[in-house]
Amino acid sequence: MDELKKYIKVLQEIGFDEIFAGDMMENQEDTLKEKLKILEQLKKELENCTRCDLYKSRTQPVPGDGNVNARLMFVGEAPGADEDRQGKPFVGRAGQLLNRLIEAAGYKREEFYITNVNKCRPPNNRTPTIEEQKACFPFLEKEIEVVNPKVICCLGAAAARAFLGRPVSITKERGQKIYWRDKILVLTYHPAYVLRNPKAEDTLFKDIKMAIELAYSED
Ligand code: URA
Repeated sequence: MDELKKYIKVLQEIGFDEIFAGDMMENQEDTLKEKLKILEQLKKELENCTRCDLYKSRTQPVPGDGNVNARLMFVGEAPGADEDRQGKPFVGRAGQLLNRLIEAAGYKREEFYITNVNKCRPPNNRTPTIEEQKACFPFLEKEIEVVNPKVICCLGAAAARAFLGRPVSITKERGQKIYWRDKILVLTYHPAYVLRNPKAEDTLFKDIKMAIELAYSED
């Protein structure tokens, strides 16, 4: 026992606590580097992807963006014209609305991870087909595996359909907790729908707040 006490005293004298904290920080840094490496690899795969025909008409694929350690991931349908041009998700008018609502809830877009089911813009912004969603879903699964969010907020019926494998009515199914694998899904309106139907903005805001609360709650 005395030997053990002496050993602990020596460890404390040489700064054991700091060493332990230092190790933890190094581990976190390694994990972050590893996550960024996998997502960089995924970006390269997207650039060469021919799994469906959407690559033929897009300018560039649009991978997800944001905090790779986020507790909450927003998933939209597919890039639009602005996203196709800039290579980033939700940077057009719908994205600006999403940013505004996230900020009104007291957060910043950068705190979350934002992506789409389909990474290539469909011609004339049409809804991706079920086959196109299935072809692209493994990329989304990879992003989910890497980021490992607690909550996924599906923006619009197309994103919800990709997860649930069936048609979804957002009006009927929004605002509830839905379990998908080990994640909680929150389904809500697409911000582009809200731009066309401003009365739905309060509901979108309520659902975003619910998704954030679930993401940060301890249960
Ligand atoms: N609509 C989407 O579904 N995704 C975007 O990135 C932009 C608009």
